[in-house]
Amino acid sequence: MVFCRVVIFRSNSTIQQNNPKRQTSNNEKMNYQNTLAFAQDLDSNDELKSFRSKFFIPQHEGKDTVYFTGNSLGLQPKSTATYIQQELNDWAQYGVEGHFHAKNPWLSYHEIFPPLISKIVGALEEEVVVMNQLTVNLHLLMVSFYKPTKQRYKIICEAKAFPSDQYALESQVKFHGYAYEDAVVEVAPREGEHTIRLEDILETIEANKDSVALVMFGGVNYYTGQLFDMKTITEAAHKAGAICGFDLAHAAGNVELKLHDWEVDFACWCSYKYLNSSPGGVSGAFIHQRHIADESLQRFAGWWGYKKATRFKMDRGFEPIPTAEGWQLSNAPVLSMAAHKASLDIFEEAGFDKLVAKGKLLSGYLHFVLNEINNHQTEKIIEIITPTIEAERGCQVSMLMLKDGKKIFDELMKQGVIADWREPNVIRVAPVPLYNSFEDVWRFGNIISGLIG
Ligand SMILES: Cc1ncc(COP(=O)(O)O)c(C=O)c1O
Repeated sequence: MVFCRVVIFRSNSTIQQNNPKRQTSNNEKMNYQNTLAFAQDLDSNDELKSFRSKFFIPQHEGKDTVYFTGNSLGLQPKSTATYIQQELNDWAQYGVEGHFHAKNPWLSYHEIFPPLISKIVGALEEEVVVMNQLTVNLHLLMVSFYKPTKQRYKIICEAKAFPSDQYALESQVKFHGYAYEDAVVEVAPREGEHTIRLEDILETIEANKDSVALVMFGGVNYYTGQLFDMKTITEAAHKAGAICGFDLAHAAGNVELKLHDWEVDFACWCSYKYLNSSPGGVSGAFIHQRHIADESLQRFAGWWGYKKATRFKMDRGFEPIPTAEGWQLSNAPVLSMAAHKASLDIFEEAGFDKLVAKGKLLSGYLHFVLNEINNHQTEKIIEIITPTIEAERGCQVSMLMLKDGKKIFDELMKQGVIADWREPNVIRVAPVPLYNSFEDVWRFGNIISGLIG
């Protein structure tokens, strides 16, 4: 039986609708089925199916694992070793002269990235730079964009942001002489809810409009998988006279972003999750076009941010490159960047729009399969805390385990599912479009339903 997409799209919604006003997308109208044959049909009609073979899939008892942790560490492209080997060869052959004579000269290695990464984050090429690590970039960008005054000094952020973000915010406000409790306003989910309502974010910005300096959110929350409405939050922040920035660790390479059009002031992300660019891989940063040439912005400077034409005159007095590159401190970590390039070339080949479309189908299927399993239980064991609305999530699905959570998680791992456990009782899973299949989703559902009986 062949389930071509056109046929699938015709069917009625089987997915819960929380918001009667919203438009349902084509995927949400899809009539999914929780059978192996259905999953395999979706795979055989998937025009991106060949991309799975470009990655090493970790093995369990001689078979592919169900690798659902691309939201934590993306898999290794098989081409990564060749990309890194190229740089090792050039280092062996040229020594320091590799800065000029390597196949990809190291002096300008980072210039490879703006044409590739700008498409993934929705930016102009001059607005993006690949450098450092995520938390380092968050600090560097806050040096430029968190400029508290006596009157305007508050930061509005999501409650329970990823710990590194919390510590970055805490240390930034302390650095400027404020106490966390006074300067940081956290927006939390309402009592009994798991995700943060947009209206509550907007009301908090409005209520603090005379004192807020910066609105800083994760694009996708690491715990719940909630995708925030970055455009509306940015508009509200600007209306209040504040700067707006995002940590896109869980959004870059996962969901469609339009940082330039949304007028976001700054953003940064890591490359080791959805961007598959090696453990601790190099990070990226976005600075909106209207700020990039603003020399009055404070920044912590280094020689790699200096105007290229005169950088090697080694003169006193920092003159920044008038693009996002002007925020660079150090010369390019070429081996880590080679891994990044290997992965971004695969994104380029697949086409990011197509990946986002497949990611929505995969994640929609996972929601469907889990809801089916729940419907067959007399006692509810899994509560999905990720929004069911497609526009409010990416690939990740967070399952709040109401009973035996850790036991079920350990058993999943024993049966070849690589998922991720977050205290106190959440299992996060993320089927990613480059290398996960619909069959992976079905297998996961089949294993979990065997475990909860
Ligand atoms: C949302 C978020 N922020 C910050 C970090 C820390 O990143 P890094 O260790 O690359 O600085 C992570 C890491 O997973 C993250 O998920």
